[in-house]
Amino acid sequence: MRLTLAAARQDGQRIGLVPTMGALHAGHLSLVEAAGKECQRTVVTIFVNPTQFGPGEDFDRYPRTLEADLAALSGVGADLVFAPASGEIYPPGYASFVDVGPIAQRWEGQFRPGHFRGVATIVLKLFHLAPADYAYFGRKDYQQALVIRRMIADLNVPITLRICPIVREPDGLAMSSRNRYLSADERRRALAIYEGLRIAAELARAGERNANMIAARVQEHLTTAGGMRVDYVALADPETLEPVAELRGETLVAIAAWLGKTRLIDNVTIEV
Ligand code: PAJ
Repeated sequence: MRLTLAAARQDGQRIGLVPTMGALHAGHLSLVEAAGKECQRTVVTIFVNPTQFGPGEDFDRYPRTLEADLAALSGVGADLVFAPASGEIYPPGYASFVDVGPIAQRWEGQFRPGHFRGVATIVLKLFHLAPADYAYFGRKDYQQALVIRRMIADLNVPITLRICPIVREPDGLAMSSRNRYLSADERRRALAIYEGLRIAAELARAGERNANMIAARVQEHLTTAGGMRVDYVALADPETLEPVAELRGETLVAIAAWLGKTRLIDNVTIEV
């Protein structure tokens, strides 16, 4: 991979990298398309990274659909796919990890201890294995993108981060590899997450500035309309992810909630 990319770079080609865990959907493919617009070579990595899953999480049942993924990628102009085996990435004796500090500790970090340590570690490894000029991440995993941004800055990684918009189903549900876990009934109720984000935006538009009031209204919708168990409804500063008490300027609204055994996340930024 390194030799191929080094040769491409010597030819003056810009290289784009799209890290994924596979089970690709239109959200992933939008990242590949974004890469294709500014890069001459696009590398997609497919690796279900064990170190970012906690004990009892869905590592074992995470969908693995390599053949379909490769077919989808050839349709959107990906040039190279890197799909290593787990033992190549974490051979016996593997012992080094990347810890990204406070931005990785709240929200997702609180409910999934160790998750961002695994994410930062694999992403840094992928940056080394497939050295690229641009790396494409989705806003769907908003906190993840900020963690990667912090790591790139702190560890002097020579790559430019691009954060791309959330791709949604026609009814508004954010696309996710985990959506395929949902039963038909759960799929219907999953829409409450998007509705919750809309409710937050609407309350802000109507003049509500109290973050706790908005969070409570959203939480109620998730529980009542969605029948969900809510991990968090966060109203936070979009740069630092610190919770906000009062809406001013831009505010991130981020949700994590469970539908049965499936955990979904989504977010939106609202401006007042
Ligand atoms: P995965 O969940 O496969 O997502 C890969 C990339 O696709 C991430 O940057 C994610 O934010 C983006 N993505 C997912 N759904 C999206 C949507 N609906 N719209 C736009 N972008 C979307 O995130 C991971 O994998 C892993 O943590 C990884 C970074 C690969 C490290 O293992």
